[in-house]
Amino acid sequence: MSDGSADRQRLRALPKAEIHVHLEGCFSRPQIVALAAAAGEPLSRPPEALFDFKNLAEFLGFLDWSCGLVRTIPQVELMAYAFAERLAENGAGYADAIINPTHWPSWRYRLPEMIEALDRGFRAAEQDGLPPVGLCLSLLRQQSADEAVELLDMMIALRSPRVVALSIDGNEASAGRTGPRFADTFRRAAAAGFRRTAHAGESSGPEGIRDAIRLLGAERIDHGVRAVEDASLMDELRDLGLPLDITPASNVRLGLYPSYEEHPVERLRRHGIPVSISTDDPELLETTLIGEYARMVETFGWDDEVLRSVARTSIEVSFAPPEIKRDLLAKLAAW
Ligand code: ADE
Ligand code: ZN
Repeated sequence: MSDGSADRQRLRALPKAEIHVHLEGCFSRPQIVALAAAAGEPLSRPPEALFDFKNLAEFLGFLDWSCGLVRTIPQVELMAYAFAERLAENGAGYADAIINPTHWPSWRYRLPEMIEALDRGFRAAEQDGLPPVGLCLSLLRQQSADEAVELLDMMIALRSPRVVALSIDGNEASAGRTGPRFADTFRRAAAAGFRRTAHAGESSGPEGIRDAIRLLGAERIDHGVRAVEDASLMDELRDLGLPLDITPASNVRLGLYPSYEEHPVERLRRHGIPVSISTDDPELLETTLIGEYARMVETFGWDDEVLRSVARTSIEVSFAPPEIKRDLLAKLAAW
């Protein structure tokens, strides 16, 4: 690509969905500084070093602190509205947004209130013409089976159309094998009409991806990049058409791969596995959705045909309602 700004405009215009992005990762440095001041809490590190993460474990620990600063309903409403604004800036027409309640201690005993506040923020955004958002409520790998049941029971009792899926994230390297612990809850979630997505193949290897498919009934894998270590698993993902929600900047920033050149997204895509591109935690990892697509163009020479097919996957495998998918796919055909 030649002129950077013109290329970015084209990537912005590319109709797409963002389907692997955490609300936990959407606070900018100034926002965190302001939230800490409002909460009367000292910063956990100097502002300029706030986002210097050595690895996933340190990153997840930071989320417990930063999300703990969010304590009021207006803060939650604003966060939801700002999330939709960021989507629009990046030309995303829809998002599945993950939220993991374990990172938000102030809302431990009032989770429904938090979800209702998020819903109001997303609704206000939609009324202002910003993109719609579905919520994926996420378990942490360290949680117990009882805690998983508690979250799902709350989701069922709440009956909020905003909540579209059950998700699971966190650190599988430190939690160990947890698929069996959560299998029943994921089965019940499916029976209750919730979609299912699971982080695997980031801090776990191919075995974590296999468990996500076989034990959790995951319809999509968040990350899944370590499938590249197992040829038979790559074949299985391709044959099942099971999509990987890939976040290259996150994987490089958190030390999974030393460079974009060594990131396996292109090998997985060329193998015929459906891949989409997202940001994971855009503000904390200092990336944008347009930036992620631009990096794939620079690193792997993605042409318009590849861009269209990756964007199509992001829309088709999203948990968006059918009318939103139809609209975005029609716009994509005209891009
Ligand atoms: N929560 C937020 N970002 C995450 C990641 N990259 N892996 C696991 N859990 C997360
Ligand atoms: Zn993630």
